[in-house]
Amino acid sequence: MMASIILPGLIDPHVHLRDPGQIHKEDFFTGTSAALAGGYTTVVDMPNNAEPIFSEKKLDEKISIARQKAVCDIGFNFGTLGDNFDQFSNVYDKVAGLKVYLNITTGGFIIDKKKLAEIYQAWESDKPIFLHAEDDVSDLVLSTLRSIPRRTHICHVSSQAELEFVMKAKDEGLPITCGVTPHHLFLNETEGDKLGAFGHMKPLLKPEKDRQFLWDHLDGFDIVESDHAPHTKQEKQSDNPPFGVPGLETTLPLILTAEAEGKLTRSQLLAKLHTNPAKLLGLQTDQTTKIEVDMSEYEINNEDLKAKCGWSPFAGRRVIGKVKKVILRGSTVYKNGSLAAEAGSGRIIQ
Ligand code: NCD
Ligand code: ZN
Ligand code: ZN
Repeated sequence: MMASIILPGLIDPHVHLRDPGQIHKEDFFTGTSAALAGGYTTVVDMPNNAEPIFSEKKLDEKISIARQKAVCDIGFNFGTLGDNFDQFSNVYDKVAGLKVYLNITTGGFIIDKKKLAEIYQAWESDKPIFLHAEDDVSDLVLSTLRSIPRRTHICHVSSQAELEFVMKAKDEGLPITCGVTPHHLFLNETEGDKLGAFGHMKPLLKPEKDRQFLWDHLDGFDIVESDHAPHTKQEKQSDNPPFGVPGLETTLPLILTAEAEGKLTRSQLLAKLHTNPAKLLGLQTDQTTKIEVDMSEYEINNEDLKAKCGWSPFAGRRVIGKVKKVILRGSTVYKNGSLAAEAGSGRIIQ
């Protein structure tokens, strides 16, 4: 049997746990259970709920639900369409950051592009602005950042053009970071097509040459973020399937497998799954929160997942690295496939 390794608790700044409003897809208990099973001890939830998190009231409601159900630490992003600036100063102390959608995706909360500069002006906080910004809006993002240089994290960079834009902004010294998802690293457009709706997410999967570019420029990325975006099998099989795939339980094993294949180093893994997300979110971490990972090989199976949707685009893959134990602030909260934490024992990150 292969040995186990110890890693710090992983931090994912980009998940959609669907609570409240769409708890048939996921909820704070199942979503944070999936997080622990995947080696994450902190996640940040996005605001594109059925009723989006555009007001302090909605945010407070969401936080109080999470307080009852979360089994790992959890933070929240606020949302905007550019018409709720009066709420901003009330939420600075309650959120991880602000999320802005510049392209069409699940929920449909895309902003009028003319509003981006106003939003940047209004967000008078050091907490980052998370952007869903694909290639077609990169010039707008660049010019906005040049005139109003607020901390910005570009979510789920998926192509050569998108990564080149971020690298250029970094070269200019702009306060920008970016994330890549495991699906954009481990699946190309052709493989996505074979998966049908189960390989359908925003940004769309890209041709193999883009995927290769991402691997060839891995240090252009600060963070590997799961963009855990669960939908039910039934929804995915419908005539109008929603965008998004789950990812909390498959990200670490995919990355550890790539490490074993020599595609990245342990220090890159630690930077992208722990240190850089901690820095982005301003989190202190210490030795009392850690995970033990069994380094033997296994197959990803839908049946083993804690995520409520019960499927993964990576089902059937052979990977290395199954989380055996999770210790959160000194307490064992997950062990050998079973949860060992009470609902509500996770902390709210503010
Ligand atoms: C996400 C979702 O389902 O909420 N979907 C996706 O395809 N990534 C939204 C998003 O992150 O764009
Ligand atoms: Zn997005
Ligand atoms: Zn997302």
